[in-house]
Amino acid sequence: MTVYAIIGGTGLTQLEGLDLSVSLDEQTPYGAASAPVLRGEYGGREVLFIARHGHPHRLPPHKVNYRANLWALKQAGAEAIIAVNAVGGINPGMGTGHLCVPHQLIDYTWGREHTFFDGEPQPVTHIDFSNPYDELLRMRLLEALQASGYAYSNLGVYGCTQGPRLETAGEILRMERDGCDLVGMTGMPEAALARELALPYACLALVVNPAAGKSVEIITMADIEAALAESIDRVREVIGRVLASDA
Ligand code: HPA
Repeated sequence: MTVYAIIGGTGLTQLEGLDLSVSLDEQTPYGAASAPVLRGEYGGREVLFIARHGHPHRLPPHKVNYRANLWALKQAGAEAIIAVNAVGGINPGMGTGHLCVPHQLIDYTWGREHTFFDGEPQPVTHIDFSNPYDELLRMRLLEALQASGYAYSNLGVYGCTQGPRLETAGEILRMERDGCDLVGMTGMPEAALARELALPYACLALVVNPAAGKSVEIITMADIEAALAESIDRVREVIGRVLASDA
């Protein structure tokens, strides 16, 4: 059975309900991961978990050591990665509480350590990234979503911005013209690094606010936290269903 690793985003710094007992060292050749990798069991299946922003939440998106996190998970034996991301909704059909398993992404980040293939000592390598998410893993998530009965989209384009500030309404309009349905700050370089390590990777995105300019209200952290508190259990349930499947 596949050893799944969960990368928990904002609002999911722990996976309650899972028996995550063993904590593995976070040191890697790329520096320290955000937190120790937790290894545990779910219904007899081995599962790994890491809190992307640390536990408690302390690292902003541009300071996350994505390379160390991915490396630490691979070292720990991860065979597939489910990334959980809180996002803003651009597509009017993706309101607060909506879940989406994106099929594409656009990277607007800059200045992040974004590759393991930095020249020396490895040869120059260009990974294929036409389809950034693993289709089989996306299907597993979609089956679980279907069974859960929550509102979700089976396609979506995730635009990854640099943060930590939220976007301007103009930037969101541009992203909309680019074809983005969702906006987040942590989808890249994580997805590309997973591909470089040949780890199947898919994203479960939870909309926690309408993107900038998409509602008459300004976006407050309090509103985002309230949306997370209200909906994060859906994410837990969906992940539980994936883990409970026998794939
Ligand atoms: N923009 C970028 N990242 C986010 C947002 C947003 O509106 N909401 C949650 N993460």
